[in-house]
Amino acid sequence: MSTSVSLRTRSVRERAIEPGSGAGTKTRMLLSALDQPASYVPIDVSMEQLAHNADALRAEYPGLEVQPVHGDYTRTLVMPATRAPFERTLVFFPGSTIGNFEPSEARRFLARFGELAGPAALLLLGADSNGEGESLLRAYDDSQGVTAAFNLNVLAHLNRDHDAAFDLDTFDHRATWDPVRSRIEMQLVSHRRQTVLVGGEPVELERGEPIVTEHCYKHRPEVLENLLATSGWKVRRVFPDPRGRMRLWLAERTERT
Ligand SMILES: C[S@@+](CC[C@H](N)C(=O)[O-])C[C@H]1O[C@@H](n2cnc3c(N)ncnc32)[C@H](O)[C@@H]1O
Repeated sequence: MSTSVSLRTRSVRERAIEPGSGAGTKTRMLLSALDQPASYVPIDVSMEQLAHNADALRAEYPGLEVQPVHGDYTRTLVMPATRAPFERTLVFFPGSTIGNFEPSEARRFLARFGELAGPAALLLLGADSNGEGESLLRAYDDSQGVTAAFNLNVLAHLNRDHDAAFDLDTFDHRATWDPVRSRIEMQLVSHRRQTVLVGGEPVELERGEPIVTEHCYKHRPEVLENLLATSGWKVRRVFPDPRGRMRLWLAERTERT
């Protein structure tokens, strides 16, 4: 995101909410672009990330009320009461995660943002609309194996936290591009026929059988605009990157029927 993007349309005290705030790298850009940030609500499932990020932001922005919410943003969450009065809420969701939801889920999810933020809300959404299969496959199956390690981490996570016994060496990372659905599909392919215990239950896998781990939709701009419109958001401005692959969408909440 370019730091030249300014959201200072008029002087309004904002509460910013960031679902999946992570390390908060982009948060600083947002807070600098806002005219009068009153409070900031990072939401994350990772307590460690959340606490670390909140402490750092409190030190960097002494006047800002930072109110971390530990929870799953796909579920109903209650926003904390703020000390600082604010006139409008801005929901910040920059990381293109919207492409990881099936389109109907994405619509419900975007609508929930509106409910979370209340009336007169704004949404700043980042989305990847690169539809060039070859360049996407170079990213999702990179020569350094970064995405492969990210994908295999799904099995490591299941082993660690869900009593599974996957042997990571017996799986290969695979990424395919589906131009019709405009999505990357990530898979882990079993090298051999095997039975894996997951939470005490046997899971049978044939040799060459894929486990689908992730879909990453690269919605064309008109598809994304429609997703926004049908979930209660009207596009106010679009900020494309110079190559027109990534876009930041600034939308305002409309009255929902
Ligand atoms: C890839 S990071 C994105 C960080 C940041 N928003 C950005 O765009 O740079 C994703 C973050 O979302 C969090 N996360 C993933 N799924 C979540 C969920 N369902 N509810 C809350 N947090 C979630 C992860 O813990 C992680 O910190």
